[in-house]
Amino acid sequence: MKALVYGGPGEKALEEHDKPTVRDPGDAVVRMTRTTICGTDLHILKGDVPTCTPGRILGHEGVGVVDQVGPGVTAFRPGDRVLISCISACGKCDYCRRGMYSHCTTGGWILGNQIDGTQAEYVRIPHADTSLYPIPEGADEEALVMLSDILPTGFECGVLNGKVQPGCSVAIVGSGPIGLAALLTAQFYSPAEIIMVDLDDNRLQVATRFGATHTINSATGDPAAQIKALTGGRGVDTAIEAVGVPASFLLCQDIVGPGGVIANIGVHGMKVDLHLERLWSQNISITTRLVDTVTTPMLLKTVQSKAIDAKLLITHRFKLDEIQDAYATFGRAAETHALKVIIEI
Ligand SMILES: NC(=O)c1ccc[n+]([C@@H]2O[C@H](COP(=O)([O-])OP(=O)(O)OC[C@H]3O[C@@H](n4cnc5c(N)ncnc54)[C@H](O)[C@@H]3O)[C@@H](O)[C@H]2O)c1
Ligand SMILES: [Zn+2]
Ligand SMILES: [Zn+2]
Repeated sequence: MKALVYGGPGEKALEEHDKPTVRDPGDAVVRMTRTTICGTDLHILKGDVPTCTPGRILGHEGVGVVDQVGPGVTAFRPGDRVLISCISACGKCDYCRRGMYSHCTTGGWILGNQIDGTQAEYVRIPHADTSLYPIPEGADEEALVMLSDILPTGFECGVLNGKVQPGCSVAIVGSGPIGLAALLTAQFYSPAEIIMVDLDDNRLQVATRFGATHTINSATGDPAAQIKALTGGRGVDTAIEAVGVPASFLLCQDIVGPGGVIANIGVHGMKVDLHLERLWSQNISITTRLVDTVTTPMLLKTVQSKAIDAKLLITHRFKLDEIQDAYATFGRAAETHALKVIIEI
């Protein structure tokens, strides 16, 4: 089969690779039909994710058709159309029983990281019963690709951890697919203000279409002062960090108001200063989270009912043979206006 293989920082190649087989009784092998690229794949290529070693097939998102199942799989059969969760979960360990699937002792975020991923013709999914979701009859498969990672991530790590509430003020630093997923799902709770921050005016225009009340380009002027001005000098109730660089986490510390929450989503590859000398008295909370994907079934219903239009996030489509172009397009989003790119297999 064909697969996109990581070759170390800056290196990746579309190569011939052995097709995966069922290794453990709970495994399923899925024939991929659609996958996509995540900001986290770009972090891997920058060398920010040391657990992902050269030789690994990249990708942790997508939909497909079950090809084979192990003897322990009871919920799926060959031929079933499935949504793949970026998080593999056994459903039985202490962490899984607490709903913290991201820390499953034999799963978590392993796909396209510690085991081969979804940017390939086939992928082996461990703990298939609790890591795959059946695709409802008549569902739009492209839209469902947004449920493997970005919608649950924006919602769980940003909106739920950030305690977004009716009437509150929210700033989302980073208007990439993850920040936009947080913007879409924050609106379930009717916050009074959602201020989107990015360096890219195109992404800020998209944010306005998606429901942002204000947008700020942090490349120009003083974004912290502008956000303070928009919130009567107080700062925001919820500051969601959706970039993964020191500057964006520092900005969140500058804009969080008393009693507020900084909800970090970004994958950080570098140390960042925490200004406790200023924040110790501000009654704030800081949360971090690797997405658990516990909300995927709920979010699937909101996509199915069109409460949120997940397809708005899709800007480009490529074939697997063109995956290097897909990465180039996604990696140069300011020029190409890419959000999520779909790779058809
Ligand atoms: N916690 C999790 O479980 C989890 C899951 C998935 C992704 N992530 C992470 O979420 C982050 C966002 O993912 P994405 O796919 O949207 O990435 P992306 O790279 O497409 O988007 C990041 C956006 O941030 C903007 N940006 C860069 N520097 C900025 C700055 N200083 N101030 C404001 N904006 C700035 C960029 O212009 C871009 O639009 C990444 O770090 C990704 O690895 C975390
Ligand atoms: Zn991801
Ligand atoms: Zn587990």
